[in-house]
Formats: sequence, structure tokens, C-alpha cells
Amino acid sequence: MKILIACEESQAVCKAFRAKGHEAYSCDILESSGGHPEWHIQGDVLAQLDKGWDMMIAHPPCTYLSNAGATWLFPKKVLNQARYTLGLKAKDFFVQLLTAPIARICIENPVQSKIFEIEKYTQIIQPYQFGHPYSKKTCLWLKNLPLLTSTDILNKYTQFVSSGSACRRGIKSNQMKMGSSERSKTFPGIANAMADQWG
Ligand SMILES: C[S@@+](CC[C@H](N)C(=O)[O-])C[C@H]1O[C@@H](n2cnc3c(N)ncnc32)[C@H](O)[C@@H]1O
Repeated sequence: MKILIACEESQAVCKAFRAKGHEAYSCDILESSGGHPEWHIQGDVLAQLDKGWDMMIAHPPCTYLSNAGATWLFPKKVLNQARYTLGLKAKDFFVQLLTAPIARICIENPVQSKIFEIEKYTQIIQPYQFGHPYSKKTCLWLKNLPLLTSTDILNKYTQFVSSGSACRRGIKSNQMKMGSSERSKTFPGIANAMADQWG
């Protein structure tokens, strides 16, 4: 299949589908860091949506949509209009991906703030269901794809938090602290499950 991995610079999902023999390309406004620039399209993914893909897996930015960022939306219980406007722009991007003219679609994002009224996710997955000892609630919006099935469930895991939010909230000893760009990279166990089950 011809598969577009939207908003991916790490190439984690792209490489998992390539290993299964698919013609997969990552696309990001950033250069790829996955070691295969020949499988990477650098630029705005919206310009790629009508290029005849069989499947798209997308990881759009979540900074202005996520529920975790909601405290910034209502500082002192008053709506921050500038941040809300950025959130609406991010919603527009998300919806363009969700309604792309592609037969099979998976969009991945954290739990979103209800204020943006985006359609409900299809399922929630966790890294600890795919062999990584971390919790990080991840929502999937699926179109014409079956639910992703756990591959290796771990019972011991720690919370995965970005260093920014750890500083704000006070890091706890049972939390794994990462920079935000590291934190946003797809776990290989989840990428492999997608390629095995959907490829
Ligand atoms: C939450 S991160 C996802 C990273 C991904 N999980 C990975 O492993 O590389 C969102 C990504 O979307 C990219 N991005 C933002 N706007 C974009 C656009 N219009 N077209 C393509 N990529 C975009 C960002 O550069 C960033 O790498």
C-alpha cells in the first residue's frame, strides 16, 4: 500500500510499514531524524492529502488542543482569547486531516479539551500495552481501520511527562521526565503494532 505518515519526523511509523514492504512516506515541515530522507516529504502535509494514498496515519500537533494545556486556556478562570484562537487553528488542521480523501485513516492525539468540540476518539491506547513501561494516554481516531490490539501488556510502568509540565507540577520520583520533542516521538512498539495489524 501507499501510506502517508503525516506530521512525523522521527519516521518510527514510516520505517515499521517499510519493514512490511509498503511504500510509506513520512511528511513533516521539519527534516527527518529517522535516517531515511529518501522516504521523507519535507513540507506542509495538507498539500499531500490528495495524492492517491491508501492509508494515512497522522500525528498532528496537540499543544493548543490537549486537555493538559487547558489550564493555559483559563488562567484565573478567564478565557485566554489568543490561546483559544490558536486552538481553533489547530482544530481546523486536525479536521482537515480527519476528513482527508483517503480510505483508511488513523489520527493520534492526547485527550483533547472539550471546548474545541472535536468528534470523539475511537479508542485510547497506552505505551504499557505495547511493551513500553510508561503510561501516556493516547487517543486514536480511526476510519475503516480495526481497533489496535495490545501486543505486550506490562503491569509495572511509570508516568511519561514532558520536562516543561514536570517543572510546573513538581516532578515525582515515579515519573519519567522527557523534553517535549522526545516525548512526542512514537513508541516503536506502537508503530510495529500498527504495521503488523493494519499493514
Ligand atoms: C506532536 S509532533 C509528532 C511527532 C511524531 N510523533 C514523530 O514521531 O515524529 C507534531 C509534528 O507535526 C509537525 N507539523 C506541524 N505542522 C505541520 C504541517 N502543516 N505539515 C506537516 N507537519 C507538520 C511538527 O513539525 C511536528 O514534528
